[in-house]
Amino acid sequence: MRKKIVVGNWKMNKTLDEGQLLADEIIKAFSVQTADHVLKIIAPPFILLASVADKLKSLSGFETAAQNCHHISSGAYTGEVSAAMVASTGTNYVIIGHSERRLYFGENNNLLAQKVNTALANKLTPIFCIGENLTERNANQHLEVIMKQLKEALFHLPSADFSKIIIAYEPVWAIGTGVTASIHQAQGMHNYIRSEINKKYGIEISSAVSILYGGSCNAKNAKELFACMDVDGGLIGGASLSAVDFTAVVNSVAE
Ligand code: PGA
Repeated sequence: MRKKIVVGNWKMNKTLDEGQLLADEIIKAFSVQTADHVLKIIAPPFILLASVADKLKSLSGFETAAQNCHHISSGAYTGEVSAAMVASTGTNYVIIGHSERRLYFGENNNLLAQKVNTALANKLTPIFCIGENLTERNANQHLEVIMKQLKEALFHLPSADFSKIIIAYEPVWAIGTGVTASIHQAQGMHNYIRSEINKKYGIEISSAVSILYGGSCNAKNAKELFACMDVDGGLIGGASLSAVDFTAVVNSVAE
């Protein structure tokens, strides 16, 4: 059976103290109810990664993710963080290709393919984000856009590597806007993604890959989104900044 996963992406929020407090609140919440059927992944900012990874070690079913990593292994890249550095904190996952990185930092599919390779070479599991913007959706180009992102950033991988990837479908128009994809839109796209993976890698890999939904997913709408056949959990931004909301989203995944 596919893994059910909920990822909390804190983005550029929380100072050192605030982030540690939130991690402690999450630990407290999950010490009474464990939600063992869900893999919970917390993606704090870099400065919090090592301490949150350390705190979460005591809690079963929790992992940490970096929100980004550099595409080159090491060297004179002032201000950047490498995949090996991320791994050295005890972190096993990294978000790659988030639409905010694509939009504000000019990351394209070619660069993202290199990040995926570097992450895998350092034994990090990429949580790879794909999604169309509103103009593309309105022009009915969303399937094409998604296909291009998959093809250019992931489909170079051999099967053994592709099978390690987690995919997050995040329509850009739904991120932080309060507008969520409808059940129909989410299931339709997730099914499309899985069928394209099936064409490229076969049924065994396509049926095992976890495809998460992201974009204004919260305690109110998570249950119906997660009930879709091809939605295997969520990548949560705003609602992951409160332990109560994050716990409610995790508990929205059916057992
Ligand atoms: P949001 O962000 O839940 O705040 O819409 C999701 C994301 O960008 O990962």
